[in-house]
Amino acid sequence: MAKNALVTGWGFYAPSRVMTNAELERIVDTSDEWITSRTGIKERRIASDEETTSFMSVRAGRAALEKAHLRPQDVQLVIVGTCSPDYLFPATACLVQTELGATRAGAFDVEAACTSFITALAIARGMIVSGAVQNALVIGAERLSRLLNWKDRTTCVLFGDGAGAAVLEASNASVGIESTVLHGDGSKGEMLMVQAGGSKRPASAETIERGQHFITMAGGEVFKLAVKSMADAAEEAIAEAGLTLDDIDILIPHQANVRIIDGVAKRLRFPPEKVFINIQRYGNTSAASIPIAICEAEATGRLRRGDKVLLVAFGGGFTWGAAVLEWFGAHDGVRPLSPLERAGRALEDVVERVRPI
Ligand code: UT7
Repeated sequence: MAKNALVTGWGFYAPSRVMTNAELERIVDTSDEWITSRTGIKERRIASDEETTSFMSVRAGRAALEKAHLRPQDVQLVIVGTCSPDYLFPATACLVQTELGATRAGAFDVEAACTSFITALAIARGMIVSGAVQNALVIGAERLSRLLNWKDRTTCVLFGDGAGAAVLEASNASVGIESTVLHGDGSKGEMLMVQAGGSKRPASAETIERGQHFITMAGGEVFKLAVKSMADAAEEAIAEAGLTLDDIDILIPHQANVRIIDGVAKRLRFPPEKVFINIQRYGNTSAASIPIAICEAEATGRLRRGDKVLLVAFGGGFTWGAAVLEWFGAHDGVRPLSPLERAGRALEDVVERVRPI
């Protein structure tokens, strides 16, 4: 059995269409000043008709596989964390698995709203460490622009679209994902939800008339709970990893509101300069926010080999959780294969060549 699950690849996809606060000023009764000061958001990405959740997931996933030097046909598990799947079913992960050519992978979606990526990471890590799979492609992706009421200024200014992915591989090294914690509280679920379109309240002329297919949120209540829950989960994950806050080199939190992030850092007494923030350019991309932030932290040199990383999120459900990992980074050059893997691949290539069309 592997000792650990290591992140060996990462990638993200963001739609090219940028929607600024100035543009929102023309749609709803809001201002750049309000959005910036209350949330930290300056702009967000909005998906085109072609850029579905699965489309963005495939692109983020492909980039992560390339970084890990892992062939799609060698992927054993695809998990997509999302609350804006292409369909109620089939799972977005199945669409992604097929499009990537990950023909041997199991595939399923995880829905824990903004905590979906950490939840998917925890599941993948558990399956790798238990020996059930050797690797997993974990994706967080959202197309929330299609669930927004563009007449509701209390929600439409907050969210954005995008996808981020990570490849996890079994490793006998002592580094990797060191702890994960997950929590939930369904008793306050109605504070952040999409009321209709599920089996309890299926789509009807009435639900559409009432705008029940859109996201609704009691922002202030969610805000207060988010700060406390994220700080608590962070402390728990750090303790479970056998570390203290001083050991953490970088905090990469879910990007919902810069004031929430500041509140968490303050509550933890964590140095603000060690917190990674990119909400100003993407808004709240829910399940995609942490993997996109990981990619940008790495690309800008904020995340380096050997760093202890703290991930933490809070979202609808309510759900919240955290993870601590030691960042390994990319394999240098070609991914080293074990002799067994090498022999297996040579055999596969022969079979592929002689297989009748
Ligand atoms: O991803 C995980 C889940 N989501 C979150 O964690 C988000 C949590 N909540 C928040 O980030 C914040 O609560 C919001 C950004 C949603 C709202 O900020 P707030 O400081 O809590 O503002 P508020 O809801 O208390 O509203 C203050 C005022 C209200 O006006 P009145 O009643 O004081 O006259 C709102 O109507 O701001 C008004 N307002 C706006 N004004 C201009 C609300 N939205 C807007 C807007 N533009 N877009």
